[in-house]
Amino acid sequence: NKRLSVAIDGPAAAGKSTVAKQVARDFSYVYIDTGAMYRALTFKAIRNKKDPENEGELMELLHSMEITLVPEGSNQLVLINGENVTEEIRTSEISNQVSAVSMHRLVREEMVRRQQKMAEAGGVVMDGRDIGTHVLPEADVKVFLLASVEERAKRRHEENLLRGYESSIDLLANEIARRDKLDSEREVSPLKKAEDAVEIDTTSLSIGEVVDRIKELMIERL
Ligand code: C5P
Repeated sequence: NKRLSVAIDGPAAAGKSTVAKQVARDFSYVYIDTGAMYRALTFKAIRNKKDPENEGELMELLHSMEITLVPEGSNQLVLINGENVTEEIRTSEISNQVSAVSMHRLVREEMVRRQQKMAEAGGVVMDGRDIGTHVLPEADVKVFLLASVEERAKRRHEENLLRGYESSIDLLANEIARRDKLDSEREVSPLKKAEDAVEIDTTSLSIGEVVDRIKELMIERL
């Protein structure tokens, strides 16, 4: 069987990682969360008191960082030089600063280079913002996931409750909308649907329905 590469893009909290993980599991493919790599760099920048606006300093940091994504069951651990930062990179402090880090051209070039290397062998489901447009322009299947801001904030809120902490839906909606704006309006490879991507609006779909739709698209390409 052919080992496909699958690109899943879309705005913040659209359910990309949830569906990507399930699709990867069902095909025994590798799931690669590219947002985690930008989050890891942001985490390291904050810890080292580096300015997210300073591309040179970020690049110096990035060159000293090995970012490893380790599959663990259907989840994924994120390591920086062997240190487990899986939980630490999900705080709202990181979410609010990551777009400033990810807008730099040199940062993106280095991340894309690493991501292309990870995807070289095929059999991957990769999620992010620029996978279909820049990282894997030749991907076998390209999906662009959408959902209303309200629905995404509600889902993130419920996810937070399950993880044991309170959050405000309004605040989440603001954060999500702000991050989408920054990611869509940046100059270098902005968040954008690839021309040949299949758009799926998940607002009124279940996770299972979205997963099935993507698996159908994959089966057509096998
Ligand atoms: O997917 P996630 O929400 O974890 O991504 C965090 C941030 O990383 C995004 O808001 C965006 O700024 C950046 N990102 C990116 N390109 C990707 C994946 C993520 O610019 N392929």
